[in-house]
Amino acid sequence: MGTPKLPFWSFSIKMGYMDAVKWLENHRNFFSPEMNGYSNVPIGPYLSTLPLIDGNGKIIDSGCGNGMLLKFLIEFSGHSLIPFGIDLNEKAIAQASKEILSDYADNFLVEDVKTYDFNEGPFDFIITNPFYAKPKMREFTEKCLKNLKVGGRLIYRVHDDVLKRNMINDLGELPDFEGLGMKTIQGRGLIFGIFEK
Ligand SMILES: C[S@@+](CC[C@H](N)C(=O)[O-])C[C@H]1O[C@@H](n2cnc3c(N)ncnc32)[C@H](O)[C@@H]1O
Repeated sequence: MGTPKLPFWSFSIKMGYMDAVKWLENHRNFFSPEMNGYSNVPIGPYLSTLPLIDGNGKIIDSGCGNGMLLKFLIEFSGHSLIPFGIDLNEKAIAQASKEILSDYADNFLVEDVKTYDFNEGPFDFIITNPFYAKPKMREFTEKCLKNLKVGGRLIYRVHDDVLKRNMINDLGELPDFEGLGMKTIQGRGLIFGIFEK
């Protein structure tokens, strides 16, 4: 997979994205600080993640909340995805496996990303946030890359509030990822760190 060219600002005018926005609005009850950390429907962050999922395969969201991002990507990426998710939040994992992605109930586990051993891997797509593993972000990145299939993509999604709290504008400013081939892409309400294997 090559790194996609991403004019994120143009997505909202694409046909098909309106359906995705409507779907998100219709599922607003599944977004909450308790279940996935969102106070509002995350239209920008979710839409800007879509083009990064450009193939079929196994996908894990490490820090998946109640699985809504995976559900959204299955509905709108246009690819055949087998979802997996881990999260520390037991209630959120229960909702993912019983209600939101019940066909894949066994793929949702209460785990800490720092100690998760990727038993279910390797994966075609790994979505996560390196700040969950702070201060061992480099070690964490190397573990993710090891459990990524050749041709796969590791996607770091770091929301603006996390960047602000850590007083950085871009993930590329951090020494933790030097020499690992990370490219950063600006999304809506978040920044992506992308690694291709
Ligand atoms: C902003 S939410 C994102 C949820 C989901 N990825 C999405 O976009 O809908 C962040 C999630 O990461 C989880 N989390 C934070 N630190 C974690 C850790 N060390 N291990 C597993 N999950 C973690 C939180 O419980 C929360 O559900």
